Amino acid sequence: MVRTLTPAASPSGHHFDVVIIGAGAAGMRGAAPAGQRGRSVLLVDHATRLAEKIRISGGGRCNFTNRRVGPENYLSLNPHFVRSALSRYTARDFIDLVRRHGIDFHERNWGQLFCDDSAQQIIDMLRAECEDGAVQWAMPATVHQIRCLDDTAASGERFAIEADRGHFTASSLVIASGGLAIPKIGATPFGYRIAEQFGISVVAPRPALVPLTLPPETLERLAPLAGISLEVEAHCRGPVFREAALVTHRGLSGPAILQVSSYWQAQAYDGDERDPVHIDLLPGIDAEAWLLEHAHDKALLANLLAERLPRRFAHAWCELHGWTKPVNQFRHAELRTIAASLADWPLTPSGTQGYAKAEVTLGGVDTRALSSKTMEARSVPGLYFIGEVVDVTGHLGGYNFQWAWSSGFACGLAA
Ligand code: FDA
Repeated sequence: MVRTLTPAASPSGHHFDVVIIGAGAAGMRGAAPAGQRGRSVLLVDHATRLAEKIRISGGGRCNFTNRRVGPENYLSLNPHFVRSALSRYTARDFIDLVRRHGIDFHERNWGQLFCDDSAQQIIDMLRAECEDGAVQWAMPATVHQIRCLDDTAASGERFAIEADRGHFTASSLVIASGGLAIPKIGATPFGYRIAEQFGISVVAPRPALVPLTLPPETLERLAPLAGISLEVEAHCRGPVFREAALVTHRGLSGPAILQVSSYWQAQAYDGDERDPVHIDLLPGIDAEAWLLEHAHDKALLANLLAERLPRRFAHAWCELHGWTKPVNQFRHAELRTIAASLADWPLTPSGTQGYAKAEVTLGGVDTRALSSKTMEARSVPGLYFIGEVVDVTGHLGGYNFQWAWSSGFACGLAA
């Protein structure tokens, strides 16, 4: 049952031990343990509906974690940063919580866990955990200003928060305002601005897990392939992902491409040159050996390829390359060239479809400025950053929520 959120009666002018800005995945997961420890907690969010990203995630079923989670599933300028939080609050811990709340779930490819019924169950669970910690809410509320207070020793009041629902003071201020993906449901650069206000550096944000665009001349050539999905292995300067890829009217999409997009974008960490995305159209198959085995076949090459590729794709791909003869009319050297193209079809994107279509944001608050154990800023006692606002970006597959839960929980035990 969906219950109506009751905002705090009138929290204006109150002091809270912990004020958390952003009542999304990380904010709620951090608020509950802080409240359950006896801290007074206020969650502030400018949205009118609670946790929209959780609600729309995983096609409405929320891929809430993954059975196998490790640092290798994350991108960050400091790949070791995630270790501590991920090991202190694991996927198993979150699965136990989901079980305790009686939420049924199932496993899909690669250990991804989804609700059987609806993502709303995860939102209700997080809210119930917050209620258990007597967390208060100011929502919808826009924060106008945050100030660091000088005289903290006696009162414990370190931060003053001015919002349109009143002003609050806090001993701990937690920024859980997420990244920039999907601005139309409330994503803002708020967290980066606060970091900068306190002199904390931000790794340049960019859209990640995002469809890639291709230049017009490539799109024109690939038009006959549009709309066809096939399983591939794709990579770009990073791990190889074996999942579906899709040629679209704007470029490339599908899970394999979304995964690779994060690494393609990450190139800008090193410089701005654009590498191609490498696509193996026949994953797990020795294309050269297979084609040479069929070197005497009288069938059209496209018909042979259609044994392993979607028929429409096989024909359009052969047309594209001008390989329209029967297999036995190709010389062995030509078959080797064709095999090499099947095993590594390089396509150089022109860009991405941007934050409007991205699932997450690459970059964010520089982890070198934060304690990996508590998420507290090293230079500003009492200031914490959790979730996607931090320079930690997970692969597709439940890893971004697991980071939100783990970083939120680590902070909730400390703030
Ligand atoms: P999150 O975005 O959840 O919350 C931030 C909160 O801060 C929001 O409630 C927002 O309103 C609020 N806020 C922002 N600016 C503010 C301001 N100025 N003042 C007040 N409040 C402010 N991941 C995964 O692991 N499995 C999945 O299935 C999916 N699926 C998915 C689908 C789609 C379409 C998207 C866009 C994303 C996903 N993700 C995902 C990614 C996942 O949703 C994301 O990484 C987490 O929600 C991040 O959690 P945070 O709490 O950090 O931010």
